[in-house]
This record gives sequence, C-alpha cells and structure tokens, in this order.
Amino acid sequence: MMKKKSVFWINMMLVLVLIVGLAFPAVNVSAAGKSKKKKVLVVYFSATGTTKSAAKKIQKATGGKLYQIKAAERYTAADLDYNNDNCRANKEQNDDKCRPKIKGKVKNIRKYDVIFIGFPIWWGKEPKIIRTFLESYNLKGKKIVTFCTSGGSGISGSTKGVKAAAKGAKVVKGRDLTDSSAKSVQKWAKKK
Ligand SMILES: Cc1cc2nc3c(=O)[nH]c(=O)nc-3n(C[C@H](O)[C@H](O)[C@H](O)COP(=O)(O)O)c2cc1C
Repeated sequence: MMKKKSVFWINMMLVLVLIVGLAFPAVNVSAAGKSKKKKVLVVYFSATGTTKSAAKKIQKATGGKLYQIKAAERYTAADLDYNNDNCRANKEQNDDKCRPKIKGKVKNIRKYDVIFIGFPIWWGKEPKIIRTFLESYNLKGKKIVTFCTSGGSGISGSTKGVKAAAKGAKVVKGRDLTDSSAKSVQKWAKKK
C-alpha cells in the first residue's frame, strides 16, 4: 500500500515538472539572453607597431574582432620626427581642427557592445586620427575602453579628447600597455 502511494506521488511530481517546463519556456530564453556574451571590437592606430602588439593581446584575451585604423596617407618616418617642429604629426597635434582622413570603415559597428580603442601617445594626447575615427560613427550607448602605448607619459592626457569625440558613449579610461605582458593584459581586458 505504502509503495503504491509513493509511486503515485513520484508520478505526480514528474507531471508537475513537465507542466512547469512547458508553461515557462520563455523564462529559459530570457535567462539565456541575459547571459549573452558581449561583442567586442578592438580598434587601434599604430604608427610604428607598438600599439598594434598591445591590441593583439587584447584581441586574444577577449576573442573580439581586430580593426586597424589606417591613415589614408601613411605616416612616414619624416612625418613622425617629433624633433622637427614642422613634421606632420606635430602640426596635426597642434591643430585642434585637424582630422586626418582614414582609409576604410568598420563594417556594421552597431553589433558591438564594447569597443577598445588604442593609440600611441603623441604630445601627451591621442593622435588626431583617433578623433576622426570616433566622430565617424554613431557610438551612442557603447562602452569605449581606451588603451595606449607611450614613452612614459601614460594615458591620462587622452581621456578628455576621446570623451568629447565619442558622443553618447560611456568612455572608460583604460591603461598604458607599453611592456604589459599578455597575462596582465588578459586579466585586465577580461573584466571590461
Ligand atoms: C609625434 C610623436 C609624439 C610623441 N609624443 C609622446 C609623448 O608626448 N609622450 C610619450 O610618452 N611618448 C610620446 N611619443 C612616443 C610614442 O607614444 C611611443 O613610441 C608609442 O609606443 C608608439 O606607438 P606605435 O608604435 O604604436 O606608433 C611620441 C611619438 C611620436 C611619433
């Protein structure tokens, strides 16, 4: 008798589990939606390769898509000779209105949630081509994390310019990754 009763209750429980499962499939869908992985884009500009190597480390850590900002007119060694007051890079940095042209575009930027943007520090700030990039897209609602490489100045001087150019985005001041190991980049980037 006892045995029959417990078999009945076990069956009832199974039926209940089945009903709940069928009645609330939407709960599972929305839970899955919430845990959806953020789509990451790693954008960088690099004149001599240092920032490029930092960008690759972030790409590896996040599994994001890598995009290189290419100047329509490539920077030559003479363009980058900052000891010469009249070199192209110095003139651009001294002209607030300067927006060097970019070759190419990011395809479908809308699908990315987090955009890392990296650059070398030029005269304490982001190169003007970074502003060209940021002003070319609708970045409303996106999270933008900066990174840079430098000869020691660090990233602080670039935050203001990036914020002004990335209208409607949430700009997070990132890190100077000069000489950062892949491991330390991974630890940092994965939290963003
Ligand atoms: C025009 C120019 C200006 C620079 N100004 C600075 C500066 O103000 N502070 C600094 O620490 N490094 C400065 N640097 C050094 C670069 O930030 C550094 O070498 C950087 O890692 C280069 O990155 P890239 O190889 O990705 O171009 C300057 C370099 C250039 C070409």
